[in-house]
Amino acid sequence: MATPSAPSSSLPPKPHQSSSASSPLSPPSSILIIGSGVFGLTTAYALSRRHDFVNTTITVVDRADPSNPDVFPAPDAASVDTSRIIRADYPDAAYAALAAEAQLQWRQQTHPDDLGSEGRYSESGLLVVADGPAPPPGTPVVPGTSVIDKSKLTGMDYARFSWANVLSLASSDPELAARIKECPNTDAIKAALGTGGSSGSWGYINGLSGWANAGASMAWLYKRVRAEDRINFVVGEVTNLEVSGNTVTGARLSDGRVLSADLVMVSAGAWTGRLVDLTGQAIATGQVLGYIDLTPEEEAQLAHMPVILNLSTGLFVIPPKNGVLKVARHAYGYLNPTTLSVPPLVSSVTTPAAAVSLPLTTLTNPTLQIPTEGADDLRRALHEMVPLPSLRDRPFSKTRICWYSDTPTADFIIDYHPEYKGLFVATGDSGHAFKFLPVIGEKIADVIAGQCPPEFVGKWNWRYPASDAAIKTVITEDGSRGGVPGLILSTELERTSAVLN
Ligand SMILES: Cc1cc2nc3c(=O)[nH]c(=O)nc-3n(C[C@H](O)[C@H](O)[C@H](O)COP(=O)(O)OP(=O)(O)OC[C@H]3O[C@@H](n4cnc5c(N)ncnc54)[C@H](O)[C@@H]3O)c2cc1C
Ligand SMILES: *[C@@H]1O[C@H](CO)[C@@H](O)[C@H](O)[C@H]1NC(C)=O
Ligand SMILES: *[C@@H]1O[C@H](CO)[C@@H](O)[C@H](O)[C@H]1NC(C)=O
Repeated sequence: MATPSAPSSSLPPKPHQSSSASSPLSPPSSILIIGSGVFGLTTAYALSRRHDFVNTTITVVDRADPSNPDVFPAPDAASVDTSRIIRADYPDAAYAALAAEAQLQWRQQTHPDDLGSEGRYSESGLLVVADGPAPPPGTPVVPGTSVIDKSKLTGMDYARFSWANVLSLASSDPELAARIKECPNTDAIKAALGTGGSSGSWGYINGLSGWANAGASMAWLYKRVRAEDRINFVVGEVTNLEVSGNTVTGARLSDGRVLSADLVMVSAGAWTGRLVDLTGQAIATGQVLGYIDLTPEEEAQLAHMPVILNLSTGLFVIPPKNGVLKVARHAYGYLNPTTLSVPPLVSSVTTPAAAVSLPLTTLTNPTLQIPTEGADDLRRALHEMVPLPSLRDRPFSKTRICWYSDTPTADFIIDYHPEYKGLFVATGDSGHAFKFLPVIGEKIADVIAGQCPPEFVGKWNWRYPASDAAIKTVITEDGSRGGVPGLILSTELERTSAVLN
């Protein structure tokens, strides 16, 4: 499904170019960061360590867990979970290289306070698989060729280009070269998986990829940030940005407090569209996850399995740890159109729709369950990839809907707002930003300072939708997504209760 890209005459002219400028900007006297997920907290940390920013007051505000107001970020943030895949397996060479840089830090496990220690990182390997048509045997993959139209990729394209980039990285990294292997058919995939199951018709295994305990890694980072004693943390829910003319001056909280700053950075993850109109640029999509409790015997049986990711369906399984196996789906996801009582900050090009897709989580809706549509798919993945008979009918011990801020190309949005002074946005994570925890804050700080990394110019910038059609909805077409685009969460939940009743 392709998003039409023909420019439409009914759109107003675009305002001035976005400001991923290369000239250094002078640091603001104060910066307010809204959202303490991986984007917000790493940026706060990076800024707090920069000499240029010694005189800048840095404040971070986040919604908190009512039961524990000192915990950052909120437990329903995308950055908090038992696991996130850590891979440099990307079809895009710039993200592959940045992820490879991050992996060097994930692998540090010598001292207890190294990022990868205390179970925060597990190098289980990653098995990437996809559906045919499989490339003819012997088809050369040209390392580093990633000049591709990301709007038209299939799961197999994603896997093939990713393999090409991994080969390219391996050409200067003998350790990596020794740990990667093409799996040209189902039998090879089965052998690499080691669970008795299989999935996909072609793929490869990368022994230098793995997964991280995301919640524990955020706690590790939060502890380090706290130790710097440079950042003010405020617990609160931002209802809107404060604006004077075309300058953003701060943020208003639900209890009436106003936090003022010279520069406001919105890094509110999938909630960002509540505060800044992102029509046609980013949309909140809900993704399903299921957790299954294992006996120690079952866990031992699966101890050596890699992460497996089926790019044709987006379904993936994370190896067990502490008696829990996780299965999830990287999909187009559910939309949750929400009517806003306070509209987001508008732009001159788009008008926010009356309803904006925003997250719905158990923090605000404690009885929320995943729809049967998603649960059935997770079950299918489990049957195929981890076919232990004892797991066949075992119910999920827990399920969750986790929210992405999805962009059409799966590129992040890290840029100054082109129309408002004093406003910077870091969002559009598109479901793959966690692995960059060790490196993304420095990159965001570079963009704040006016120095966007050259390889991300044209990727991370603010991009107004190209057409009226593109305004209607955002569909991520980078080839990695499974499921069906445009499912509405409330409809799927109604179907689910109809089945259960
Ligand atoms: C199911 C799932 C699987 C994923 N798998 C992977 C993976 O395998 N590998 C990988 O690299 N990445 C993965 N990701 C993506 C990764 O988790 C995200 O890209 C990343 O965590 C996004 O960080 P963020 O800071 O943008 O958003 P978040 O972590 O969601 O942070 C946003 C913060 O803003 C706060 N906030 C929002 N609105 C307000 C407000 N009005 N007032 C105050 N605070 C507010 C929230 O409380 C939250 O703490 C996955 C994501 C999901 C959901
Ligand atoms: C910070 O403020 C001090 C005191 O005003 C000043 O001497 C110093 O140059 C400033 N540092 C920077 C990097 O702006
Ligand atoms: C994985 O991909 C294959 C195609 O290669 C598909 O037939 C299969 O159903 C997928 N499995 C899952 C669990 O998504």
